[in-house]
Amino acid sequence: MPGTTIIRARVAHTPRDPFATSDALETFDDGAVAFDQAGTILATGPHAAVAEAHPAAETLDRRDCVLLPGLIDTHVHFPQIPVIGAMGLELLDWLAQRTLPEEAKMADLDHATKAARRFTRLLARNGTTSALVFGSHFPHAQHALFEAADASGLRIASGLVVSDRNLRPELEVTPDEAYEHSRVLIDRWHGHGRLRYAVTPRFSVSASEPMLAASKALLDETAGALFTSHVNESVGEIAFVKELFPDARDYVATYEDAGLLTARSVLAHNVHVSDDELARLAHAHTAVAHCPSSNAFLSSGIFPMARHVEHGVRFGMGTDVGAGTGLSMLKEGLVAYHVQMVRDQGHMLGPAHLLYLATAAGAKALNLGDMAGDLTPGKQADLVLIKPPLDGTLEAVLEEAPDWDAALGAIFTLAREEAIAETRVAGEVVWSRVREA
Ligand code: GUN
Ligand code: ZN
Repeated sequence: MPGTTIIRARVAHTPRDPFATSDALETFDDGAVAFDQAGTILATGPHAAVAEAHPAAETLDRRDCVLLPGLIDTHVHFPQIPVIGAMGLELLDWLAQRTLPEEAKMADLDHATKAARRFTRLLARNGTTSALVFGSHFPHAQHALFEAADASGLRIASGLVVSDRNLRPELEVTPDEAYEHSRVLIDRWHGHGRLRYAVTPRFSVSASEPMLAASKALLDETAGALFTSHVNESVGEIAFVKELFPDARDYVATYEDAGLLTARSVLAHNVHVSDDELARLAHAHTAVAHCPSSNAFLSSGIFPMARHVEHGVRFGMGTDVGAGTGLSMLKEGLVAYHVQMVRDQGHMLGPAHLLYLATAAGAKALNLGDMAGDLTPGKQADLVLIKPPLDGTLEAVLEEAPDWDAALGAIFTLAREEAIAETRVAGEVVWSRVREA
Protein backbone atom coordinates (compact mmCIF):
# COMPACT_ATOMS: atom_id res chain seq x y z
CA MET A 1 0.00 0.00 0.00
CA PRO A 2 1.46 3.43 -0.88
CA GLY A 3 2.40 5.51 2.11
CA THR A 4 3.15 2.51 4.30
CA THR A 5 6.21 2.73 6.54
CA ILE A 6 8.04 -0.12 8.22
CA ILE A 7 10.40 0.48 11.11
CA ARG A 8 12.78 -2.44 11.57
CA ALA A 9 14.14 -2.71 15.12
CA ARG A 10 14.20 -4.87 18.23
CA VAL A 11 10.56 -4.67 19.28
CA ALA A 12 8.88 -5.24 22.65
CA HIS A 13 5.42 -4.43 24.00
CA THR A 14 2.83 -5.73 26.48
CA PRO A 15 -0.41 -6.48 24.64
CA ARG A 16 -1.55 -8.39 27.73
CA ASP A 17 -1.68 -7.44 31.42
CA PRO A 18 1.30 -8.84 33.41
CA PHE A 19 -0.69 -8.48 36.65
CA ALA A 20 -3.11 -11.07 35.20
CA THR A 21 -0.96 -13.36 33.05
CA SER A 22 2.66 -14.52 32.88
CA ASP A 23 2.86 -14.15 29.07
CA ALA A 24 2.11 -10.44 28.85
CA LEU A 25 5.28 -9.55 26.98
CA GLU A 26 5.60 -9.95 23.20
CA THR A 27 9.06 -9.43 21.68
CA PHE A 28 10.74 -9.70 18.28
CA ASP A 29 14.56 -9.78 18.08
CA ASP A 30 14.56 -8.76 14.42
CA GLY A 31 11.15 -7.16 14.49
CA ALA A 32 9.16 -4.54 12.66
CA VAL A 33 6.13 -2.31 12.95
CA ALA A 34 4.27 -1.30 9.77
CA PHE A 35 1.91 1.68 9.77
CA ASP A 36 -0.06 3.57 7.16
CA GLN A 37 -0.10 7.26 6.31
CA ALA A 38 -2.74 7.94 8.94
CA GLY A 39 -0.44 6.43 11.58
CA THR A 40 -2.50 3.29 12.12
CA ILE A 41 -0.49 0.14 12.83
CA LEU A 42 -0.93 -2.47 10.08
CA ALA A 43 1.38 -5.17 11.42
CA THR A 44 3.78 -5.89 14.27
CA GLY A 45 5.95 -8.99 14.17
CA PRO A 46 9.13 -10.56 12.80
CA HIS A 47 10.64 -8.27 10.15
CA ALA A 48 10.57 -10.95 7.45
CA ALA A 49 6.82 -11.51 7.84
CA VAL A 50 5.96 -7.80 8.08
CA ALA A 51 8.08 -6.98 5.00
CA GLU A 52 6.52 -9.81 3.01
CA ALA A 53 3.01 -8.61 3.86
CA HIS A 54 3.88 -5.00 2.87
CA PRO A 55 6.26 -5.26 -0.11
CA ALA A 56 5.72 -1.65 -1.27
CA ALA A 57 6.47 -0.12 2.11
CA GLU A 58 9.37 2.19 2.80
CA THR A 59 11.62 0.56 5.42
CA LEU A 60 13.57 2.49 8.03
CA ASP A 61 16.39 0.32 9.31
CA ARG A 62 16.68 1.00 13.04
CA ARG A 63 18.19 -2.31 14.09
CA ASP A 64 20.49 -0.32 16.37
CA CYS A 65 17.41 0.58 18.45
CA VAL A 66 14.88 -1.04 20.76
CA LEU A 67 11.36 -0.01 19.76
CA LEU A 68 8.77 0.26 22.54
CA PRO A 69 5.26 1.75 22.64
CA GLY A 70 5.33 5.47 23.47
CA LEU A 71 5.57 6.14 27.20
CA ILE A 72 2.48 7.44 28.98
CA ASP A 73 2.75 9.84 31.93
CA THR A 74 -0.52 9.91 33.85
CA HIS A 75 0.42 12.77 36.18
CA VAL A 76 2.86 15.62 35.55
CA HIS A 77 2.73 19.37 36.36
CA PHE A 78 3.61 21.74 33.52
CA PRO A 79 4.65 24.76 35.68
CA GLN A 80 6.95 22.73 37.94
CA ILE A 81 10.05 21.94 35.85
CA PRO A 82 12.08 24.59 37.77
CA VAL A 83 11.36 23.02 41.19
CA ILE A 84 12.67 19.56 40.32
CA GLY A 85 15.18 18.71 43.03
CA ALA A 86 13.87 21.12 45.72
CA MET A 87 14.91 18.96 48.65
CA GLY A 88 14.17 18.74 52.32
CA LEU A 89 10.42 19.40 52.50
CA GLU A 90 7.20 17.44 52.87
CA LEU A 91 4.16 18.11 50.68
CA LEU A 92 2.44 21.08 52.36
CA ASP A 93 5.69 22.94 53.09
CA TRP A 94 7.07 22.10 49.63
CA LEU A 95 3.92 23.59 48.10
CA ALA A 96 3.95 26.73 50.24
CA GLN A 97 7.69 27.44 50.14
CA ARG A 98 8.84 26.31 46.72
CA THR A 99 6.10 25.28 44.33
CA LEU A 100 3.22 27.72 44.64
CA PRO A 101 5.60 30.73 44.36
CA GLU A 102 6.93 29.14 41.17
CA GLU A 103 3.40 28.56 39.85
CA ALA A 104 2.56 32.21 40.57
CA LYS A 105 5.18 33.20 37.96
CA MET A 106 2.80 31.86 35.31
CA ALA A 107 0.94 35.18 35.65
CA ASP A 108 3.50 36.42 33.13
CA LEU A 109 2.49 35.35 29.62
CA ASP A 110 6.02 35.34 28.18
CA HIS A 111 7.23 33.15 31.01
CA ALA A 112 4.26 30.80 30.56
CA THR A 113 4.71 30.55 26.79
CA LYS A 114 8.39 29.70 27.13
CA ALA A 115 7.67 27.20 29.91
CA ALA A 116 4.91 25.51 27.87
CA ARG A 117 7.16 25.05 24.82
CA ARG A 118 10.00 23.77 26.92
CA PHE A 119 7.75 21.39 28.82
CA THR A 120 6.21 19.72 25.77
CA ARG A 121 9.62 19.45 24.09
CA LEU A 122 11.03 17.74 27.19
CA LEU A 123 8.17 15.24 27.33
CA ALA A 124 8.89 14.15 23.75
CA ARG A 125 12.61 14.07 24.44
CA ASN A 126 11.92 11.61 27.26
CA GLY A 127 9.94 9.28 24.98
CA THR A 128 6.55 10.30 26.36
CA THR A 129 3.83 10.32 23.71
CA SER A 130 0.76 10.88 25.91
CA ALA A 131 0.33 12.69 29.19
CA LEU A 132 -2.28 13.89 31.62
CA VAL A 133 -0.84 17.29 32.47
CA PHE A 134 -1.74 19.28 35.57
CA GLY A 135 -1.96 22.77 34.13
CA SER A 136 -1.66 26.31 35.44
CA HIS A 137 -4.01 28.37 37.62
CA PHE A 138 -3.87 31.16 34.98
CA PRO A 139 -6.13 30.87 31.92
CA HIS A 140 -3.63 32.54 29.56
CA ALA A 141 -0.88 30.17 30.74
CA GLN A 142 -3.18 27.20 30.23
CA HIS A 143 -3.97 28.49 26.76
CA ALA A 144 -0.21 28.66 26.10
CA LEU A 145 0.14 25.05 27.25
CA PHE A 146 -2.58 23.91 24.83
CA GLU A 147 -0.95 25.86 21.99
CA ALA A 148 2.43 24.28 22.68
CA ALA A 149 0.88 20.82 23.10
CA ASP A 150 -0.98 21.19 19.82
CA ALA A 151 2.22 22.19 18.02
CA SER A 152 4.17 19.34 19.65
CA GLY A 153 2.05 16.55 18.15
CA LEU A 154 1.76 14.83 21.54
CA ARG A 155 -1.50 13.44 22.94
CA ILE A 156 -2.17 15.73 25.88
CA ALA A 157 -5.07 15.95 28.29
CA SER A 158 -4.85 19.01 30.51
CA GLY A 159 -6.90 21.73 32.11
CA LEU A 160 -6.92 24.91 34.13
CA VAL A 161 -6.09 24.17 37.77
CA VAL A 162 -8.82 25.61 39.97
CA SER A 163 -8.78 26.42 43.67
CA ASP A 164 -10.65 28.75 46.00
CA ARG A 165 -8.80 28.42 49.33
CA ASN A 166 -5.59 27.62 51.23
CA LEU A 167 -3.10 28.41 48.45
CA ARG A 168 -2.07 32.04 47.71
CA PRO A 169 -4.54 34.80 46.81
CA GLU A 170 -3.27 35.11 43.22
CA LEU A 171 -3.90 31.39 42.62
CA GLU A 172 -7.47 31.45 43.94
CA VAL A 173 -10.73 32.20 42.12
CA THR A 174 -14.42 31.79 42.91
CA PRO A 175 -16.24 28.68 41.69
CA ASP A 176 -18.14 30.84 39.18
CA GLU A 177 -14.90 32.26 37.78
CA ALA A 178 -13.39 28.78 37.65
CA TYR A 179 -16.39 27.55 35.71
CA GLU A 180 -16.33 30.46 33.23
CA HIS A 181 -12.58 30.34 32.59
CA SER A 182 -12.65 26.55 32.16
CA ARG A 183 -15.62 26.74 29.80
CA VAL A 184 -13.72 29.08 27.44
CA LEU A 185 -10.71 26.74 27.38
CA ILE A 186 -12.91 23.68 26.84
CA ASP A 187 -14.71 25.29 23.92
CA ARG A 188 -11.40 26.26 22.32
CA TRP A 189 -9.33 23.13 22.94
CA HIS A 190 -11.23 19.99 23.94
CA GLY A 191 -11.19 17.56 21.02
CA HIS A 192 -8.88 19.80 18.97
CA GLY A 193 -6.31 17.56 17.24
CA ARG A 194 -4.80 15.27 19.87
CA LEU A 195 -5.89 17.40 22.83
CA ARG A 196 -8.48 16.72 25.48
CA TYR A 197 -9.65 18.71 28.45
CA ALA A 198 -9.11 17.57 32.05
CA VAL A 199 -11.18 19.23 34.76
CA THR A 200 -8.60 19.91 37.49
CA PRO A 201 -9.39 21.11 41.02
CA ARG A 202 -5.95 21.03 42.68
CA PHE A 203 -6.94 18.90 45.71
CA SER A 204 -9.63 18.94 48.36
CA VAL A 205 -7.42 21.11 50.58
CA SER A 206 -7.79 23.95 48.06
CA ALA A 207 -11.23 23.19 46.59
CA SER A 208 -14.42 23.83 48.55
CA GLU A 209 -17.62 21.89 47.95
CA PRO A 210 -18.94 24.59 45.55
CA MET A 211 -15.66 24.39 43.61
CA LEU A 212 -16.00 20.61 43.35
CA ALA A 213 -19.62 21.10 42.24
CA ALA A 214 -18.46 23.47 39.47
CA SER A 215 -15.93 20.80 38.44
CA LYS A 216 -18.66 18.18 38.30
CA ALA A 217 -20.81 20.43 36.08
CA LEU A 218 -17.91 20.91 33.65
CA LEU A 219 -17.19 17.18 33.56
CA ASP A 220 -20.84 16.33 32.91
CA GLU A 221 -21.10 18.89 30.13
CA THR A 222 -17.95 17.73 28.34
CA ALA A 223 -18.13 14.30 26.71
CA GLY A 224 -14.74 12.62 26.66
CA ALA A 225 -13.15 15.01 29.16
CA LEU A 226 -11.19 13.67 32.13
CA PHE A 227 -11.25 14.68 35.79
CA THR A 228 -7.99 14.73 37.73
CA SER A 229 -6.80 15.71 41.21
CA HIS A 230 -4.69 14.46 44.13
CA VAL A 231 -5.77 12.06 46.87
CA ASN A 232 -4.34 10.41 50.01
CA GLU A 233 -0.83 11.66 49.38
CA SER A 234 0.62 12.69 52.74
CA VAL A 235 -0.38 12.30 56.36
CA GLY A 236 -0.46 16.08 56.98
CA GLU A 237 -2.59 16.68 53.90
CA ILE A 238 -5.07 13.98 54.89
CA ALA A 239 -5.46 15.50 58.40
CA PHE A 240 -6.14 18.90 56.81
CA VAL A 241 -8.81 17.40 54.51
CA LYS A 242 -10.48 15.83 57.54
CA GLU A 243 -10.76 19.27 59.17
CA LEU A 244 -12.10 20.86 56.00
CA PHE A 245 -14.67 18.12 55.27
CA PRO A 246 -15.79 17.02 58.78
CA ASP A 247 -18.78 15.13 57.40
CA ALA A 248 -16.93 13.21 54.68
CA ARG A 249 -16.31 9.53 55.35
CA ASP A 250 -12.68 9.85 54.18
CA TYR A 251 -10.55 11.66 51.56
CA VAL A 252 -11.95 9.68 48.60
CA ALA A 253 -15.44 10.66 49.75
CA THR A 254 -14.68 14.37 49.21
CA TYR A 255 -14.62 13.65 45.46
CA GLU A 256 -17.20 10.86 45.61
CA ASP A 257 -19.77 13.07 47.34
CA ALA A 258 -19.32 15.63 44.54
CA GLY A 259 -19.98 12.96 41.90
CA LEU A 260 -16.37 13.03 40.74
CA LEU A 261 -15.49 9.34 41.12
CA THR A 262 -16.05 8.16 37.56
CA ALA A 263 -14.43 6.04 34.86
CA ARG A 264 -13.02 9.32 33.48
CA SER A 265 -11.33 10.21 36.80
CA VAL A 266 -7.60 9.91 37.54
CA LEU A 267 -6.45 10.53 41.12
CA ALA A 268 -2.75 10.91 41.85
CA HIS A 269 -0.84 9.18 44.68
CA ASN A 270 -3.35 7.26 46.84
CA VAL A 271 -0.59 6.21 49.22
CA HIS A 272 -2.51 6.16 52.52
CA VAL A 273 -5.72 4.49 51.44
CA SER A 274 -8.18 2.27 53.32
CA ASP A 275 -9.63 -0.96 51.95
CA ASP A 276 -13.01 0.70 51.92
CA GLU A 277 -11.72 3.53 49.73
CA LEU A 278 -10.05 1.03 47.39
CA ALA A 279 -13.30 -0.88 47.01
CA ARG A 280 -15.15 2.32 46.09
CA LEU A 281 -12.45 3.41 43.62
CA ALA A 282 -12.64 -0.01 41.96
CA HIS A 283 -16.43 0.10 41.84
CA ALA A 284 -16.33 3.53 40.17
CA HIS A 285 -13.60 2.41 37.70
CA THR A 286 -11.59 5.43 38.79
CA ALA A 287 -7.90 5.23 37.90
CA VAL A 288 -4.94 6.04 40.12
CA ALA A 289 -1.70 7.67 38.99
CA HIS A 290 1.14 6.01 40.90
CA CYS A 291 4.01 8.48 41.34
CA PRO A 292 6.82 6.59 43.08
CA SER A 293 9.68 9.09 42.83
CA SER A 294 7.50 11.89 44.16
CA ASN A 295 6.19 9.73 47.00
CA ALA A 296 9.76 9.13 48.13
CA PHE A 297 11.05 12.65 47.42
CA LEU A 298 8.41 14.33 49.60
CA SER A 299 8.51 11.53 52.17
CA SER A 300 4.83 10.95 51.45
CA GLY A 301 4.96 7.18 51.88
CA ILE A 302 5.02 3.89 50.02
CA PHE A 303 2.34 2.99 47.50
CA PRO A 304 0.34 -0.13 48.47
CA MET A 305 0.50 -1.65 45.00
CA ALA A 306 -0.50 -5.17 45.97
CA ARG A 307 -3.67 -3.85 47.61
CA HIS A 308 -4.56 -1.87 44.49
CA VAL A 309 -4.12 -5.05 42.42
CA GLU A 310 -6.15 -7.14 44.88
CA HIS A 311 -9.01 -4.64 44.84
CA GLY A 312 -8.94 -4.30 41.06
CA VAL A 313 -8.17 -0.57 41.09
CA ARG A 314 -6.73 0.55 37.75
CA PHE A 315 -3.41 2.38 37.97
CA GLY A 316 -0.78 3.80 35.65
CA MET A 317 2.40 5.69 36.49
CA GLY A 318 3.10 9.40 36.65
CA THR A 319 6.34 11.30 37.05
CA ASP A 320 4.63 14.03 39.13
CA VAL A 321 7.32 16.53 38.16
CA GLY A 322 8.37 18.71 40.05
CA ALA A 323 7.96 16.59 43.21
CA GLY A 324 8.96 13.72 40.95
CA THR A 325 12.62 13.58 40.04
CA GLY A 326 12.40 13.97 36.27
CA LEU A 327 10.30 13.36 33.17
CA SER A 328 11.66 9.89 32.44
CA MET A 329 8.95 7.25 32.69
CA LEU A 330 11.75 4.67 32.47
CA LYS A 331 13.27 6.04 35.67
CA GLU A 332 9.81 6.13 37.25
CA GLY A 333 9.53 2.41 36.48
CA LEU A 334 12.85 1.74 38.20
CA VAL A 335 11.78 3.67 41.30
CA ALA A 336 8.46 1.79 41.38
CA TYR A 337 10.50 -1.41 41.33
CA HIS A 338 12.89 -0.21 44.09
CA VAL A 339 10.06 0.83 46.35
CA GLN A 340 8.11 -2.40 46.01
CA MET A 341 11.32 -4.35 46.69
CA VAL A 342 11.94 -2.60 50.00
CA ARG A 343 8.38 -2.44 51.31
CA ASP A 344 6.79 -5.09 53.47
CA GLN A 345 4.46 -7.13 51.29
CA GLY A 346 5.54 -5.21 48.21
CA HIS A 347 4.39 -6.38 44.80
CA MET A 348 7.22 -8.22 43.04
CA LEU A 349 7.67 -6.46 39.71
CA GLY A 350 9.57 -7.61 36.65
CA PRO A 351 10.48 -5.99 33.32
CA ALA A 352 7.08 -6.82 31.81
CA HIS A 353 5.31 -5.05 34.70
CA LEU A 354 7.49 -1.97 34.30
CA LEU A 355 6.90 -1.82 30.56
CA TYR A 356 3.16 -2.30 31.05
CA LEU A 357 2.98 0.36 33.78
CA ALA A 358 4.92 2.85 31.63
CA THR A 359 2.75 2.22 28.55
CA ALA A 360 -0.48 0.18 28.33
CA ALA A 361 -1.59 0.73 31.94
CA GLY A 362 -1.24 4.47 31.42
CA ALA A 363 -3.19 4.32 28.19
CA LYS A 364 -6.01 2.52 29.99
CA ALA A 365 -5.95 5.00 32.88
CA LEU A 366 -6.30 7.89 30.42
CA ASN A 367 -9.05 6.11 28.44
CA LEU A 368 -6.70 5.77 25.46
CA GLY A 369 -6.61 1.98 25.61
CA ASP A 370 -8.29 1.58 22.22
CA MET A 371 -5.68 3.63 20.41
CA ALA A 372 -2.39 3.51 22.31
CA GLY A 373 -0.33 1.66 24.91
CA ASP A 374 0.81 -1.29 22.81
CA LEU A 375 1.64 -2.09 19.18
CA THR A 376 -1.39 -4.17 18.24
CA PRO A 377 -2.57 -3.61 14.62
CA GLY A 378 -5.41 -1.10 14.55
CA LYS A 379 -3.85 1.07 17.25
CA GLN A 380 -1.89 4.23 16.53
CA ALA A 381 1.85 4.03 15.89
CA ASP A 382 2.85 5.86 19.07
CA LEU A 383 6.35 4.61 19.75
CA VAL A 384 9.78 5.34 21.10
CA LEU A 385 13.15 4.21 19.76
CA ILE A 386 15.82 3.64 22.37
CA LYS A 387 19.46 3.69 21.35
CA PRO A 388 22.16 3.29 23.99
CA PRO A 389 24.64 6.18 24.02
CA LEU A 390 27.94 5.16 22.44
CA ASP A 391 30.36 3.42 24.81
CA GLY A 392 28.05 3.92 27.80
CA THR A 393 26.99 1.46 30.47
CA LEU A 394 23.62 0.69 28.84
CA GLU A 395 25.36 -0.28 25.62
CA ALA A 396 27.71 -2.58 27.55
CA VAL A 397 24.85 -4.34 29.33
CA LEU A 398 22.64 -4.65 26.24
CA GLU A 399 25.47 -6.14 24.20
CA GLU A 400 25.73 -8.98 26.71
CA ALA A 401 22.02 -9.32 27.56
CA PRO A 402 21.05 -12.98 27.21
CA ASP A 403 17.31 -12.40 26.80
CA TRP A 404 14.55 -9.80 26.73
CA ASP A 405 14.07 -9.76 30.50
CA ALA A 406 17.71 -8.78 30.85
CA ALA A 407 17.49 -6.20 28.06
CA LEU A 408 14.34 -4.55 29.39
CA GLY A 409 15.64 -4.66 32.97
CA ALA A 410 18.76 -2.83 31.75
CA ILE A 411 16.71 -0.28 29.83
CA PHE A 412 14.56 0.61 32.84
CA THR A 413 17.62 0.72 35.06
CA LEU A 414 19.97 2.67 32.79
CA ALA A 415 18.22 4.33 29.82
CA ARG A 416 17.38 8.00 30.35
CA GLU A 417 16.81 11.10 28.20
CA GLU A 418 20.14 10.61 26.38
CA ALA A 419 19.03 7.17 25.17
CA ILE A 420 15.82 8.33 23.52
CA ALA A 421 16.66 8.39 19.80
CA GLU A 422 13.22 9.16 18.42
CA THR A 423 9.64 9.64 19.56
CA ARG A 424 6.66 9.23 17.22
CA VAL A 425 2.93 9.84 17.62
CA ALA A 426 0.63 8.28 15.01
CA GLY A 427 3.77 7.48 13.02
CA GLU A 428 4.83 11.15 12.95
CA VAL A 429 8.22 12.12 14.36
CA VAL A 430 7.64 14.43 17.33
CA TRP A 431 11.23 14.33 18.50
CA SER A 432 14.41 12.96 16.96
CA ARG A 433 17.95 13.04 18.31
CA VAL A 434 19.28 12.96 14.73
CA ARG A 435 17.17 15.93 13.70
CA GLU A 436 18.15 17.83 16.86
CA ALA A 437 21.91 17.29 16.33
N1 GUN B 1 -1.15 18.26 45.98
C1 GUN B 1 -1.64 19.46 45.60
N2 GUN B 1 -0.81 20.06 44.72
C2 GUN B 1 0.21 19.21 44.54
C3 GUN B 1 1.38 19.27 43.72
O1 GUN B 1 1.65 20.21 42.99
N3 GUN B 1 2.22 18.19 43.81
C4 GUN B 1 1.96 17.12 44.59
N4 GUN B 1 2.82 16.11 44.60
N5 GUN B 1 0.87 17.05 45.35
C5 GUN B 1 0.02 18.08 45.32
ZN1 ZN C 1 0.85 16.11 41.46
